[in-house]
Amino acid sequence: MPKTFFITTAIDYTNSAPHIGHAYEKILADVIARYRRLKGDNVFFLTGVDQHGQKVQQSAEREGVPPEQFVAGITEQFIALWDKLDVRYDAWAATIDPLHKTCVQGMLQRLFDEGKIYKDKQVGFYSVRQEQFLTDKDRNEAGEFGPEWGEVEQREEENYYFKLAEHKQWLLDFIDARSKAGNPFVVPDFRVGELRNAVEKIGGDRQSGSDRQSGSDLCISRPKSRLSWGIELPFDRDYVNYVWFDALSNYISFIGYDPSRSTINEQPSIFRDKWPALHVIGKDIMIPAHGIYWPIMLHALGFKDDQMPTLLVHGWWNLGGAKMSKSAGNVVDPNALADKYGAEALRYYLISEIATGSDADFSEGLLVADYNHALANTLGNLANRTLNMIHRFRQGTIKSSGLMALAESEVRSHLQTWSDDELKAGQTFYRDKFVDFRPSNALSAPLARALACNALVEISAPWNLAKDKRQEKLLDAVLYHLAESLRIIAIWISPVLPKSAHGIFDQLNWKMESELRGKEKRFSLADAEWGKLPDGHVVGKPVPLFPRIEG
Ligand code: MSP
Repeated sequence: MPKTFFITTAIDYTNSAPHIGHAYEKILADVIARYRRLKGDNVFFLTGVDQHGQKVQQSAEREGVPPEQFVAGITEQFIALWDKLDVRYDAWAATIDPLHKTCVQGMLQRLFDEGKIYKDKQVGFYSVRQEQFLTDKDRNEAGEFGPEWGEVEQREEENYYFKLAEHKQWLLDFIDARSKAGNPFVVPDFRVGELRNAVEKIGGDRQSGSDRQSGSDLCISRPKSRLSWGIELPFDRDYVNYVWFDALSNYISFIGYDPSRSTINEQPSIFRDKWPALHVIGKDIMIPAHGIYWPIMLHALGFKDDQMPTLLVHGWWNLGGAKMSKSAGNVVDPNALADKYGAEALRYYLISEIATGSDADFSEGLLVADYNHALANTLGNLANRTLNMIHRFRQGTIKSSGLMALAESEVRSHLQTWSDDELKAGQTFYRDKFVDFRPSNALSAPLARALACNALVEISAPWNLAKDKRQEKLLDAVLYHLAESLRIIAIWISPVLPKSAHGIFDQLNWKMESELRGKEKRFSLADAEWGKLPDGHVVGKPVPLFPRIEG
C-alpha cells in the first residue's frame, strides 16, 4: 500500500479570534491536500488549535471565565471559519484533548527517565507584570528595564530543561545532508541558510536569569504558582509544561504515536502509514520552534534522519507593510470578507496573490479586481457563453466530430494546438508547480486556457458560423472545444475553488454526484486529458458562477 501523504498546519493560539494570516495558512494546506487527493493519493490533513499557555490564561482571567470556557468559545470560531472557507481536514488537533495530554506526558516521562530532561535553578530579574524572567536584551538604551516591564524584582526559580545543545552538530549535519540529497528540510530552500545560522548560535552557557532558551538548553516548565493552564509534568506535579513540547507534539499525538516505544518500527501502523509529515508553517515559527526544537525533540525520541519531517514555510500577509497581529490592532477579519465576497473569492485571492514563501500586502481593492478579472470576466464569462451557445445553436447537445473533417483554417489550427501541444504543456506546468508547492503559479494553467477559449470565441464568432450551413462541422468543433476545455479547467481549479469546480461540472451535466459509483471521485487529475466528453452529450443550463462585484 502506498503511504499516506500527511500534511499539517501550525495550530493557532486560542487567545483571540482568527485573522487572515491564519486563514491563508489553512487554505494553503487545504489546496495542497486537495491537489494530492486529485492526483489519487491517500491524504491525511491535520490542523487544530493550541489551547494552553499564559496568554490564554491571562485572556480568560481578563474576561472572568475559566480557561476551559474561554478556549471553547475561540475554538468554535476557528472551526466555524474553516467550515465556511471549505478547509477540509481529516483530524482536529485540540491540545486540551486527554489523548494528547497522555501522549505528551508519556514523551516527557521517557525523556526524563533517559536523563534528557534535568532540573536547574534560574536566578535573575523578573517582571511581575509580564510574568517572565528578563535578560540584558530587555534593557533599554539607558541600560534599565523600562516601564513596560512594571515592577522588576530579583527572583530564584527552579525549572526543568530539555538537553538541546548536545544535538547541535547532529542538526547541522542533518540539514546539510537533506540539502545535498536535493530534499531540503526547509522549502522554499532560501530559508535554509537562515536556519543554519541560528543552529550555529546554539551553545555557550545558558544566559543567567533567562528562561528563554537564549543560549543552549530549552526550559520546558513553569511552576504552577505562575502558570496553571498547561499539561502537568508527569514527574513533578508542581509544574506544568511550557510550551513547545505541548504544541509541537500535536503532529504525532493525533496520529497515534505511542510514546512508550522508542523506535518507529514499534509504532502502531496508523502512525507509520502517515509519518513523516509536511508541516505548513509561517516564517515566524521556523526559528527556533520548528527548525530547531522540533527536529531535536524527534531525534531525542529516537526518530532517524529519514523519519524527519519537511517544513513548508510561508510568508506573511501584511497590512501597510506591517505584519498583521492582534496586538498591533491591524487584523483583517476573514469572516467578514467571506460574508461579503464569498469563500471562493477569498480563497482565490489568498492563493493567487502570494508566491509561497514571500510576503504580500493585503488589499481589499485587489481582491475585488482579481476576482472581477480572472473569475467574473474570464472564467465565469466563458462558462456562461459556452453553455448559452450550446443551447442556442445545438439545443444543448455537443458533437465530438474529429477535427480532420474540417477544412484547413485559422480556427482549425487553433483547435488542434490547444487540444494537443498546449494541453500537454499545461498539464506538465500545472503538475510541476504543485510539486514546488506553488499553487499561485499552477493557477495560470486554467486561467490561460480560459483566456484562450475566450479568444477562440472571438476569432471563430460562433453566431456567424450558425448562420452558414457549410460551417456546421466547424461550429460543432468549436462548441465541443469550449465545453471540453471547461471540463479540464474545472479539474484544474478544484483544489483552490472546489465549489466553482462543482458548479462547472453540474452545468456541464458531467459526473453528477448522484451517478458516481462506489469510491469514484468527481475530480481526478487523470481525467484532465482531452476528449472525455462523449459525442452527443447534453449539457445543463448556465447559472452565473461568478457575478461581477460592482462598486
Ligand atoms: N500556536 C503557535 C504555533 C504552534 S504549531 C505547533 C502559533 N500560533 S499563531 O496563532 O500565532 O500562528 C499560527 C500560524 O499562523 C503560524 O504559522 C503563523 O506564522 C501564522 N500567521 C500568523 N500571522 C500571520 C500573518 N500575518 N500572515 C501569515 N501567516 C501568519 O504560532
